[in-house]
Amino acid sequence: MVCYLADHHTCLKTFVVCYNRGFFMDRSHTCGELTEKNAGKKVVLNGWVDTRRDHGNLTFIDIRDRYGLTQVVVNPEISKAAHETSKSLRREFVVRVEGSVRKRPKGTENKNWTTGQIEVEASKLEIISTSLPLPIEVSDNAQSTEETRLKYRYLDLRSPEMQKKIIARHRIIKIVRDFYDENGFLDIETPILAKSTPEGARDYLVPSRVNPGKFFALPQSPQIFKQLLMLSGFDRYMQIARCFRDEDLRADRQPEFTQIDVEMSFINENDIMELHERLMEKIFSEFMGIKLKLPFPKLTYDEAIARYGIDKPDTRFDLELVDVTKELSGKGFNAFDAVVKDGGIIKAITVEGKAEFSRSELTTLEEFVKIYRAKGLAAFKVGDKIEGQLEKFFGQDNLKVLAKKCSAKKGDLILIVAGSPKIVNDSLGNLRNHLAQKLGLIKEGKWNFLWVKDFPMFEWDEEEQRLNAMHHPFTSPKKGDLPLIEKEPLKIRSNAYDLVLNGTEIGGGSIRIYSPDVQARIFRALGISDDKAKEKFGFMIDAFKYGAPPHGGIAFGVDRLVMLLVGSDSIRDVIAFPKNKAAASLMDESPSNVDEKQLKELHIKLNLEK
Ligand code: AMO
Repeated sequence: MVCYLADHHTCLKTFVVCYNRGFFMDRSHTCGELTEKNAGKKVVLNGWVDTRRDHGNLTFIDIRDRYGLTQVVVNPEISKAAHETSKSLRREFVVRVEGSVRKRPKGTENKNWTTGQIEVEASKLEIISTSLPLPIEVSDNAQSTEETRLKYRYLDLRSPEMQKKIIARHRIIKIVRDFYDENGFLDIETPILAKSTPEGARDYLVPSRVNPGKFFALPQSPQIFKQLLMLSGFDRYMQIARCFRDEDLRADRQPEFTQIDVEMSFINENDIMELHERLMEKIFSEFMGIKLKLPFPKLTYDEAIARYGIDKPDTRFDLELVDVTKELSGKGFNAFDAVVKDGGIIKAITVEGKAEFSRSELTTLEEFVKIYRAKGLAAFKVGDKIEGQLEKFFGQDNLKVLAKKCSAKKGDLILIVAGSPKIVNDSLGNLRNHLAQKLGLIKEGKWNFLWVKDFPMFEWDEEEQRLNAMHHPFTSPKKGDLPLIEKEPLKIRSNAYDLVLNGTEIGGGSIRIYSPDVQARIFRALGISDDKAKEKFGFMIDAFKYGAPPHGGIAFGVDRLVMLLVGSDSIRDVIAFPKNKAAASLMDESPSNVDEKQLKELHIKLNLEK
């Protein structure tokens, strides 16, 4: 077999590596390769039967592989045997065709195919394997339900649409690996069978047969290992790492996903940001053919929440939140006054030109904010007068001040939520995204990157009534904020940052703690006693006593990044074999029962409630 690797190039349009010459032993060309230049040439093609059409005496077969489609003409005058075989062909049979390339007759060319100028006249046709009628439509998988597509994933992956996405993923990861290699990073693998890492989700556990009653945890990320690698002196680490998290699934979450995981020593936050802006610049230039503008904008967490209500704002459209607590409290509307008395706030969004929204449209928006626990959504329509159900409580003078604060003009709609800061920001932040979708405010082709930084160190867990680390407990607090740890821990900011692209968090990281004392204080604030910390992370705490370099890192969600770059709505589209929303694989039917014998070997007894 001869591999002419030097001759291949990547086609930006199809993301496919095009091979200029034969690459495989039997086939001389792929189904996406032949052009007019090959006219008169004898070729061998292998592929799947995409369609078969009988035209009088002639049979036309479109054969397909991952590179494209080629039209084959079977003429009984050239080969009786081939013509006979062609009659028994069905869709998705695998065939081998020998024949010669010829230019298609004028008027029959197909401009949508790279091979559309030619056809192959078959001198030999062999069926390599047959196929049952397919449960899904390969050429148009959108016709099948996602359930069927996941069950027959190996067939779904045959569709050109899916192949394009999986190939795109490969191209992007290749660019990423090259980038880190060019920048002196080492690709180092870390264990999959390991101890639990504190990323905040539940662990997937693996029982150890040889250590009865003991369990490994699949890594939620390689966090601890990459920090230990810094201790070992590998000052630039990267890995395309598998991570496992048992958490509630959404369109951009999978229980098993992939990170571009990075850690660096002797750097600061700006070094990490600047390097990764260059990584994004390279991916966009080489994969998308788009030149990004650097540096990316930066917002502090507080600014992001104040202006957009959420910490991953989509900045492709305006609709910013405005704090109107001052303008709408103490004006005679008791419900708002009570909210403010309890430490709550009042915020507004102005929707340009939408004073025309009907009562039922406003009710639907109100139902939407209630998902985020808002009690209601007040609306004011700006016209000659400012009108709304609460108009009488405020009076025109106050409402004019409100409209001015919101920069609302005639024809605009002002939407208002009052409540605790969390509820107000969550509900209006999500309403903002919802309205942008509904009103078509998001312009296609915009790529808005944004760093969000200075996250709070802790967040309050209402359910458990305790502090949680907002990023993870190895994140360093901002210099000067640490003394607040005992009295006002929620005021401590951390050296954590996220990279947001078009409203999706594609990466997150932090500068780490490298002092054992600071680490111990953070654990204590999180309610992890010194003994518990020793039991869970003793090896790490000890490691930091042997000369720890200052270090920090970041991890990007590969699936999320690829999803955005190929224009998908779900990360399941860019993962070859994903799980469904119930964290199960419909194809291999995992998770599944295991034999009693296997459980016995693992010293496990099931106690399932009926
Ligand atoms: P974090 O938990 O923020 O940080 O994860 C980093 C990035 O991984 C992606 N991601 C996911 N993608 C798909 N499915 C999931 N369930 C999922 N969870 C996270 C997101 C996210 O931004 N160890 C730290 C990184 C560090 O501090 O260096 C970590 O894992 O795109």
